[in-house]
Amino acid sequence: MLPLDRGWTKVRSMRIARNLADLRVATAELRASHGSVALVPTMGALHDGHRALVRSAVTSGAATVTSIFVNPLQFAASEDLSRYPRDEAGDLAILEACGCALVWLPDPETMYPPGDATTINVTGPAEDWEGSARPGHFRGVATVCAKLFGQVRPDRAYFGEKDWQQLQVVRRMVLDLLLPLEIVAVPTVRNPDGLALSSRNRFLSETERALAPKLYAVLTETARVIAGSGPVSGRLAASRETLTNAGFAVDYFALVDAPTLREIPRTSSVARLIAAARLGSVRLLDNIAA
Ligand code: PAJ
Repeated sequence: MLPLDRGWTKVRSMRIARNLADLRVATAELRASHGSVALVPTMGALHDGHRALVRSAVTSGAATVTSIFVNPLQFAASEDLSRYPRDEAGDLAILEACGCALVWLPDPETMYPPGDATTINVTGPAEDWEGSARPGHFRGVATVCAKLFGQVRPDRAYFGEKDWQQLQVVRRMVLDLLLPLEIVAVPTVRNPDGLALSSRNRFLSETERALAPKLYAVLTETARVIAGSGPVSGRLAASRETLTNAGFAVDYFALVDAPTLREIPRTSSVARLIAAARLGSVRLLDNIAA
């Protein structure tokens, strides 16, 4: 018997678009066949965190479009864009297995046409934390997301809670520009030891990899201790010190209002603990509800 005759074998036909003309035809057909379209924007080098986003989108019943574009505008000159991991063949195999309907693989000239003169500058939730650590980063993220939304015209777009501030920046932009789509958040996918999955984890040395889960452990312990307590600044300082003594270079470890990213002195029903800390050349980002 041929494999395709077996009841459990699903025949899949994921499409790939590498230019705007193909994208338009494919998205129009998908909208007609499925009724709605979901977009999962990524930079590739896909892992189980990305998979969770694609699976959520597919499960919603929408035709799922995943974009893969390593966006130069969100990397600073000092950050090594060429070092960003790329694995197109591996990514396509993962997406097909997840039930993705279409992969959008634009080239830089399509996203940034010659003579382009427009970028999107979000203030508010984009200003502090990653915003000040990586000047221009969220301008790059907001600009590329707005372009992807305009190209794919999804009903919903899926973002990971892993990048909490990015999620809030995109939500703010969608609200402010009255963009006709819904932003859906997907919880952070972690390794069994707690380390949040990230394409950059592969650059951790063996010793750094062994130490990395401590960031989540300290976040969790801090959230437990500050729950229902008064001012948290002393406790946050102690957590920073714990991480520093363990070998992390802590960029920030803070309690913020979840949607606005404004620092708050005590926990509330919408508080988030956010952290960025470096181990060697790798910058780890994580956050949890607090
Ligand atoms: P990238 O780092 O490839 O992430 C794509 C999406 O996957 C983001 O929404 C991110 O939050 C989510 N993600 C990453 N790791 C995750 C994890 N462990 N659990 C759950 N979700 C996770 O973020 C970007 O790309 C870019 O900035 C982009 C939005 C594509 C714009 O260029």
